[in-house]
Amino acid sequence: MNASAHDLAATLPPGFTMGVATAAFQIEGALDEDGRGPSGWDVFAATPGSIVNDHTPVIACDHYHRMPEDVALMKELGIDSYRFSLSWPRIQPGGSGPVNPKGLDFYDRLIDLLLANGISPMATLYHWDTPLELDEAGGWMNRDTAYRLGEFAAIAAAAYGDRVTRWVTINEPATVSVNGYMLGVHSPGKDHMLDALPSVHHQLLGHGLAMQALRAAKVPGEIGLTNVYSPMVPASANPLDKVSAGLMDMAQNRIYADPVLLGKYPDAIRAVTFFSAFSPSSEDLELISQPLDFYGLNYYMPTRVAAGPGEGPVPKGMAEAMGNDLIGGGAGTPFHIQSFPDTETTAYGWPIKPDYMAVALAEMAERYPELPPVYITEGGASFEDLEIHDADGQLIVPDERRVRYIAEHLEAAIEATSPGGAAASIDLRGYYVWSLLDNFEWSAGYKQQFGLLHVDRDTMVRTPKASYHWLRELLAARNRPESPAAAEAAGAAADGATAVGTGVEPPAAEAGTAARTETPAGG
Ligand code: BGC
Repeated sequence: MNASAHDLAATLPPGFTMGVATAAFQIEGALDEDGRGPSGWDVFAATPGSIVNDHTPVIACDHYHRMPEDVALMKELGIDSYRFSLSWPRIQPGGSGPVNPKGLDFYDRLIDLLLANGISPMATLYHWDTPLELDEAGGWMNRDTAYRLGEFAAIAAAAYGDRVTRWVTINEPATVSVNGYMLGVHSPGKDHMLDALPSVHHQLLGHGLAMQALRAAKVPGEIGLTNVYSPMVPASANPLDKVSAGLMDMAQNRIYADPVLLGKYPDAIRAVTFFSAFSPSSEDLELISQPLDFYGLNYYMPTRVAAGPGEGPVPKGMAEAMGNDLIGGGAGTPFHIQSFPDTETTAYGWPIKPDYMAVALAEMAERYPELPPVYITEGGASFEDLEIHDADGQLIVPDERRVRYIAEHLEAAIEATSPGGAAASIDLRGYYVWSLLDNFEWSAGYKQQFGLLHVDRDTMVRTPKASYHWLRELLAARNRPESPAAAEAAGAAADGATAVGTGVEPPAAEAGTAARTETPAGG
């Protein structure tokens, strides 16, 4: 492993985008302000027992009021790009119909400030905060929600299309379907199990309609979607374990990626009720499989699968960390997730396996020969960070394990996609660290923290952790005159690549990207 910021910086390919990611509901707070409408998540999180320690997202990181400070911290960090999500209920409170000018204005200011600071905006249209009215009408079980997302995409395109560098239509439909509609541990809290499968198709259709709307608006930015990918590892050579891992692969990975990248659902899925009775129209599949400009991949961990119910569907520690006994205590499932032996885990109980980053990429490359350029749109880890106060009372957060996690995973991704690597055919364009801030981690509340910045829950003061300092060093080292990225950027500048019309140069690597693909929007 190469955690030295300088050594790792030297391995980043020219023009490689480095960023951080967040999502609106996890950081903004201000749920009732300036005309924002309620979301399904507002209601779910306010239901006693849904969130660890009944933590509330009402303030979250107060980003809605501290946005300029957070952009300044990103600028200081030296990232090329910021992935954030547009809060649908803030912009279109009812999920259909009129827009909220103040909501639109917030992201207008955010995008302008990012560009003024040389940071390219990657905007996610849907990161789980469904407007409540849509949830009440069935949410993603209702096909109409897909059309509403298409309409929302048109609104976003008209408002920000001239300035957004990359669009992500939806984030991790797998997590929405599994946690929200199958198990009921995320909003909207439905435990439909296999009957939840319409939510899969409708989200993918929503992606297709959103993409169609962005294309119709002729946005110059690149368009993709984000899927999470977890390699499935049979717990033993026992054929039943292998079959179980295959089923999990189907349920977690393939039904979300195959329709998008191959234009069809996996054949094996026909065994499941919804899909056996349902034959998606060729129009739907065409919309879903429109060519993407990039594919967003979130990689956190592999999953070890064994046949039979075990002690419950997931290891007890993992279920407790997620805050729901429900999945820890469940019985009678046909297979279950096991811990990897002798493997360090995050505070969530997630196995730390950077070598499986290469497996994930290699499997993707093999399954999807036409894979467009890839961005790792999320990767990071939650740990119980040590908090130390120095002699002056200054907070120090020495999160060395997070540094190691990010370094090892970034290194593995670069190595795998380099010539001779396990996934050398993949054109890997960037890596976004999850997450900028310690934030509202869905059903785990503030118990699981992924931030490069510690957030004091009483004062909202942001304190850079060791991981922030480390990443800053890496990003600065990359731009040294002797680094390949800097050489490429210098070439791009000579070719006339401009910044963003503000007089502020974008960071060197992204400026290199801008010369090839990015619209120097706003200028
Ligand atoms: C989601 C994030 C989440 C992170 C860590 C991803 O599934 O996109 O919203 O906070 O993982 O759990």
